[in-house]
Order: sequence, then C-alpha cells, then structure tokens
Amino acid sequence: MLAPMQGLTNDALRACYLERYYPDIVFTEFVRVHTQSRKRIARAELTEIAVHSSEFPLVVQLIGNSGLALAEAAKQVQDVGCHHLNLNLGCPYGRMTTGATGGELLREPEKLAELLTALRQSILGSFSIKCRAGYSDPRQLFELLPIYLDSGIDYLILHPRTVVQQYSGWADHDLTAEAASQTNLPIIANGDINSAATGQRLLQETEVSGLMLGRGALADPWLFQRIRGKLPGEVDEAQRRSDLFELLTDLLPRYLVKFCGERQALMKLKDFLNFIPDDCLQRDIGKLKRTMTAAGFSAVLESRFSR
Ligand SMILES: Cc1cc2nc3c(=O)[nH]c(=O)nc-3n(C[C@H](O)[C@H](O)[C@H](O)COP(=O)(O)O)c2cc1C
Repeated sequence: MLAPMQGLTNDALRACYLERYYPDIVFTEFVRVHTQSRKRIARAELTEIAVHSSEFPLVVQLIGNSGLALAEAAKQVQDVGCHHLNLNLGCPYGRMTTGATGGELLREPEKLAELLTALRQSILGSFSIKCRAGYSDPRQLFELLPIYLDSGIDYLILHPRTVVQQYSGWADHDLTAEAASQTNLPIIANGDINSAATGQRLLQETEVSGLMLGRGALADPWLFQRIRGKLPGEVDEAQRRSDLFELLTDLLPRYLVKFCGERQALMKLKDFLNFIPDDCLQRDIGKLKRTMTAAGFSAVLESRFSR
C-alpha cells in the first residue's frame, strides 16, 4: 500500500504511482471531518475523491473526533463511490479546535471503542484504522488490540512508534511481529520500510498481512516491485538518477494541470524533492529546487538526470 502523506499523496501523484509503480492500494491524504459545519468534508476534497477512476482501490482516510460527524462524512464519501474507509489514529499533530483527533484518540480507549463500533456499522466496504503503537507507551498496543478486534474493523495499519515520539527514533517492528502473532486481525506493517530487504524480512519472518510504504516509496517509487522481487533490491547512482528523471518527467505535467499555475506546481514538486535522501543527488536536487519555471525545471532534469 502507498501510505497517506498530507501535502504529497494528492490524486495526481497517486495516479502516477498507480500507472507506473504498482502499489496494490492507495490512500488519500487525511480528510478533515468538521464537527461544527454541516458540510462535514470540504467540497474540493470530496470532488478530488469522487473523480478517482482507477480500478485499484482508493482508501479514503478520515480524521476527526465526533462519531456523528464521522458517520455522516463516511456516508458522503460512500455516496460519491468510495467504499473503503480508514480512520487516522496516528497523526501527532491532528488536534482540531473541537478537540483531540488522530493519535490523541488513543488516550481514551473507552471512547475510541464506541467510536469504532459505531463507525463500523455505517461503513459498507472495508473499514480499517491506521494507528501508532500507543500514545506514550508502545506496550499500550496490547491493551488496544482486543478493542480493535471487538469493534469489527477489517484490518489495522501499524506504525510502531508512539504518538509522543512523533518521527524520532525508529519504527520498532519487533512490536509489529509480536502483535501480528497475537491477534487474528490482519496487520499491515508501516514505518521505515526503506529497502527491499527490510520489506522482505517483515513479510517472511513475521505474520503481517502486508506492507505500507511512505517515505521509502517517495525516495524509490520502484520499492513495491523490489520487495516483490521483480526488480533488483539494490540500485546504483546512475539508476537512481534515471528513476528520478522518469518520475519527475511524469509528475510535472500532471502537477501543471492539477495546481493553479506554474509556481504552485513547482512548489509542490519541490516539497516532494525534500524526501529524496541520496547524498550523491543533493547538488543536482538543489539545482532543481532553485528553478523558477517549468521549462527551467525540465531543462535541469534533462541535463542532470537523464541518461
Ligand atoms: C509529510 C508526511 C505527511 C503524512 N501525512 C499523513 C496522513 O495524512 N495520514 C496518515 O495516516 N499518516 C500520515 N503520515 C505518516 C505516514 O503515512 C507514515 O505512517 C509514516 O511516514 C511512517 O511510514 P514511512 O516510514 O514509510 O514513511 C505522513 C507522513 C509524512 C512524512
């Protein structure tokens, strides 16, 4: 699965990945569910969801805190044709003016149980959650697992850091392995799966049901195929350059259509470039980031990245 990433995994990027790089399932960025407005979901977000036309499942991720508002939002999403929903229980920055959302919901397990059970009843297709291991204690996961199982959710995506930890340290996949061996709920492993070897090890040595790739799939879009063993696990610098050339050459025209104007499209592409970690590419990535026009961006791509 391609992970939801706010500001990055918009519909244009998802279409590019689905057409070229073969994730099995893609997720929307989190969609805020408003408690006070009768329009539970902003019109622009609902439109973006509604135009999804791929045969591959799109999972719509909701973030919110009111059971009623979330159930109404789920109905709106299903009315425009998306039946697979996910609730964000991981975001460490998700607080809304109306209260705790995202990872903060883990602080009140009883309320969470009610929320999940009620939502399960109003969702026709699959209903999953994406969660951290716990709020501040990673072992909280083992108190939460029975609640998740009883609520009737279909699967859970586990990012085994705590909410308090945010993105520091490493995702602890010993915890993922322990959880997968203890529960009947399918667990999808997420967090720091940045190489084919890491992904393959998780699939072979633990009882997880699948993987979700975030930053690793931005840095190397072919990671899905590498983990499947359909492409070499390791790549050299020349290959990395040419992979990035192909990805950005495909994304640029999509972004020019999606975003209003060249400036905005380039800004979004530059946000994406922040997730390319290779030291050897940084000088040329810096050149791409300094371009001010689409033509300039293409020229640097052509001169520095094409074979
Ligand atoms: C820029 C950015 C935006 C993110 N936005 C979301 C989001 O909208 N919903 C969500 O559940 N997780 C979000 N995440 C978390 C990722 O989905 C994922 O759980 C996390 O990055 C760990 O996986 P990774 O190491 O494969 O990137 C975001 C992460 C990043 C880096």
